[in-house]
Amino acid sequence: MDETQSQVADPTEPIPLHLLPQGCGVGRDGALWIRGQRVSDLVKEFGTPLFIYDEEQIRSRAKELKAHFGSDVAYASKAFLCKAMARLVDEEGLHIDVASGGELSVVLSVGFPPERIVMHGNNKSVAELELAISAGVGRIVIDSFDEIERLESLIPRGHPIEVWIRVTPGVEAHTHEFIMTGQDDSKFGFGLLSGDAKIALDRLKLSERLNLVGLHAHIGSQIFSLDSFVKEVEVLAPFFASAGVEELNFGGGLGIPYVSGEPVIEFSDWAAALKDSVKAAGIPSSARIMVEPGRSLVGPTAMTVYEIGTIKEIQGIRTYVSVDGGMSDNPRPVLYGSGYETFLVDSVFARRERRVTVVGKHCESGDILVKEGQLPSAAKVGDLLATPVTGAYGYSMASNYNKVGRPAVVFVNNRGYRLVLRRETVSDLLSLDLG
Ligand code: LLP
Repeated sequence: MDETQSQVADPTEPIPLHLLPQGCGVGRDGALWIRGQRVSDLVKEFGTPLFIYDEEQIRSRAKELKAHFGSDVAYASKAFLCKAMARLVDEEGLHIDVASGGELSVVLSVGFPPERIVMHGNNKSVAELELAISAGVGRIVIDSFDEIERLESLIPRGHPIEVWIRVTPGVEAHTHEFIMTGQDDSKFGFGLLSGDAKIALDRLKLSERLNLVGLHAHIGSQIFSLDSFVKEVEVLAPFFASAGVEELNFGGGLGIPYVSGEPVIEFSDWAAALKDSVKAAGIPSSARIMVEPGRSLVGPTAMTVYEIGTIKEIQGIRTYVSVDGGMSDNPRPVLYGSGYETFLVDSVFARRERRVTVVGKHCESGDILVKEGQLPSAAKVGDLLATPVTGAYGYSMASNYNKVGRPAVVFVNNRGYRLVLRRETVSDLLSLDLG
């Protein structure tokens, strides 16, 4: 952890540059650039709200993960998925995790090697399982007793498929700490403490159609405490030893800083914590250890740019700055109370003295993007406002609430830029409506 970044900064300081995508730079006039493109020019071409991803940074983060874990890293595609992203993950040689037939279809559509796909889901439908089986996905992660029966009924005798079971380890990770739940109150997986995981294991040993080759667990998301992962390893190790399998996937969950003062946890530290504890727990070096990061791969690599539409100053109470997106392109503040920073794209170095609440254009008071934000006092209607660190669980959780179309998404790299998801139009919305 970088101590300088963990100190609480003066909120009126300019946006900390380490929160912006890596390829960002600032012109002499204070305007934001990314990999040779002026951000306001990208906006002129594609409009707002606009997600801008630094493709080089996604690639370098993928390479870094690979350097620490080998190719046994599965990108959790729920964090952000489109064809360009699936292709990138393939090109970087990682595995990919999908959690629905929709995600699987996007990934298959670019010719992603099926053996590098991991299929999750606590309630996979027969159609989803059939698609996964016919495509030949590498591993299906079994989540329930019902699913054992369902899968067995779909697999012809003599053609067994390789599966993992998802284990609920009873370790519940919070941002800065973990707790042992002491019970297995989760809709996911088979409880370790309840004994269900052992029953599933014994049941699968008898199966002629399902070949159990590994275990999977995932203890939470946006985790800053490496101790939580260490605890996960400690709890899973004895069960892994008794299971007689070779593969062990510890899931994703590594936390990333969203706002000033939150720590940066390097992939190297995560890898070292996992590897050291794997060794200490007596897991043999022949075991295939996997991880499944989503947020930490893509989260820091993007920002969302909006245009300010109205500024409403309510004397003595609050200043509302309304932008042309909101909870439909980033529901995280509403759902989880997540914090974001905000700044003006054309005045990156400006001090942000004005306390504001950045809200969207949706018809509810809870439609807040940044509750306690700071902007330069000169902020005015028509300015471009950005929120950094929106690369994970932003677009992927976007909705059409109030019939607002989903934003466009642009990938920028050292050679140029390209639109990877076009803006959703009213005709797109009307095309679903059969009248
Ligand atoms: N593997 C499994 C089985 C998962 O369920 C998840 C996330 C991941 C991997 C990736 O976790 P990550 O590395 O991204 O933390 N919408 C929430 C996060 C939900 C995470 C769900 N599962 C948010 O915006 O914070």
